[in-house]
Amino acid sequence: MEETAENLKQLAKFGISEGISEIILTTRNDSAAETKANAAPFGIIWKNNKMFLRLFKGSKTYENLMREDYFAANMTDDAVLYAKSTFYDLEAEEFDDVLHITEIGNENTKISISVPVLKKADRFVLFKCVSRLEASDSVIIDIEPIEYFVLNAEKEGFVFNRGFHSVIEACIHLTRYELTKGPTHVDLIRHHQKIIQRCGRKNDKAGFSIVRRKLMEIEAGEDKL
Ligand SMILES: Cc1cc2nc3c(=O)[nH]c(=O)nc-3n(C[C@H](O)[C@H](O)[C@H](O)COP(=O)(O)O)c2cc1C
Repeated sequence: MEETAENLKQLAKFGISEGISEIILTTRNDSAAETKANAAPFGIIWKNNKMFLRLFKGSKTYENLMREDYFAANMTDDAVLYAKSTFYDLEAEEFDDVLHITEIGNENTKISISVPVLKKADRFVLFKCVSRLEASDSVIIDIEPIEYFVLNAEKEGFVFNRGFHSVIEACIHLTRYELTKGPTHVDLIRHHQKIIQRCGRKNDKAGFSIVRRKLMEIEAGEDKL
């Protein structure tokens, strides 16, 4: 994916720029799974004309994208969706299916692919995984955008709300705390809590309450909703 002015402009409209853009990634679950779809926040990395994901092993998204070639990058400023999808499964009603028709082979054989997306997303981009490079703890997946969708045309522009961004930071620190139990992460979650209280919108505060509940569950040694 070249960082041409045209590509930068098109993707910027959808909240993706060079560097790392945090989106909610939705994938289809294995047919044997209890639920059809999965959602969780991930970073789309765009550096040196390459666009890719780095997925650490152990997540459902990792499992799904080792099997499926398509996913959606959902853009939203809904802090509850970020926090809930980081630590818990979303309900089936929170997803819609989008059907993408693609052509393969010389005979123009058409195959249709359906990818789950978030009903509450403002916009989403359908991506294709083009190659995978596995390491011991993670996989790098090269990706290409294939189709762009706008669900909420009224939500244009980008307002930087410190409260919303602090919810995302708190989610990241809590995923790291889950792995390492490093106390600095808890200090940083408290730091972001203060920003959320001061600058956040109602929904950012609701998002943080999911983080706080999860932290209490981890500290109590139980990990359920
Ligand atoms: C904003 C944000 C960005 C994240 N980016 C990544 C990432 O790029 N790679 C990764 O492996 N995990 C990332 N994570 C952690 C996953 O979202 C987390 O492990 C999640 O529980 C995976 O859910 P799943 O098992 O439903 O796929 C990120 C978390 C947050 C909050």
